[in-house]
Amino acid sequence: MADLQAIVDEIHDKLAPRLGEGKVADYIPQLAHVDPKKFGMAIVTVDGETFKVGDADTPFSIQSISKVFTLTLALGKHGETTWNRVGREPSGSAFNSIVQLEHEEGKPRNPFINAGAIAVSDLVLAGHTPREAIGEIVRFVRYLADDDSIAIDPEVAKSEQATGYRNFALANFMRSFGKLDHPVEHVLGVYFHHCALAMTCTQLAKSGLFLAASGRNPLTGHTVVSKQRARRINALMLTCGHYDGSGDFAYRVGLPGKSGVGGGILAVAPGRASVAVWSPGLNHNGNSLLGSLALEMLTTRTGWSVF
Ligand code: DON
Repeated sequence: MADLQAIVDEIHDKLAPRLGEGKVADYIPQLAHVDPKKFGMAIVTVDGETFKVGDADTPFSIQSISKVFTLTLALGKHGETTWNRVGREPSGSAFNSIVQLEHEEGKPRNPFINAGAIAVSDLVLAGHTPREAIGEIVRFVRYLADDDSIAIDPEVAKSEQATGYRNFALANFMRSFGKLDHPVEHVLGVYFHHCALAMTCTQLAKSGLFLAASGRNPLTGHTVVSKQRARRINALMLTCGHYDGSGDFAYRVGLPGKSGVGGGILAVAPGRASVAVWSPGLNHNGNSLLGSLALEMLTTRTGWSVF
């Protein structure tokens, strides 16, 4: 195998002069105040080896990357009926767009845009209290990463709640179509809290490893999902994981990936490794600018593209 440590070191060295590029999310103070020059990358291979560089062990707000974990939970609870509430098509619109909902009767295009993730939060709630559902999500991510130190940043959750006017609009709109079963406040309580999970690149790469290894986490031996379900989640990450930048990410990186507005990206190289990268500066689609570049450099060096 290629010398992965040398490769991540080289990526870090090459990007060092560019750290700080891109625009850090500033819609809440907790994200606006993050040092724009942070950069971390972690690779965990299906053989259980870890390679990391930079700030790979500094926790950051994973934001929309958490939507991969809530989708996995919802599929576990509801199976294929999940798709009655949320579609599987790329939206070609911004992550927080409302336009398609009116023409498509309150059914979001996919589980990774905000509207779709809100529908998924409703499915995770499934008759539970928001506190129980949030606890279940945290326990699930700890189980995936085999790390009980993972937690939600309560200040981020509070700020999301205080400023989430657009998300309230999306949720109320869906509820008006009868597409949410629970009160909007409960559904968004779950959504805002899972977006506020704080994780390191190392923890994130471990938590995504089951997607690289046919549904089974080789570090713990736990079968998380079936092989078929892992393949399907990867397909959604490839086609929808970067919103209206998904095509560009597939073209340049060639891996299923999910971005978050905190500057993180989780990418899956099936049969090889799970990779997490963090650089807070975003491109115009709200995806990490240098994070995408780092992953492009990685797949160029390793040949890990799925194409
Ligand atoms: O709902 C929001 O606006 C944020 N909590 C999450 C959005 C996000 O991460 C979009 N990703 N680029």
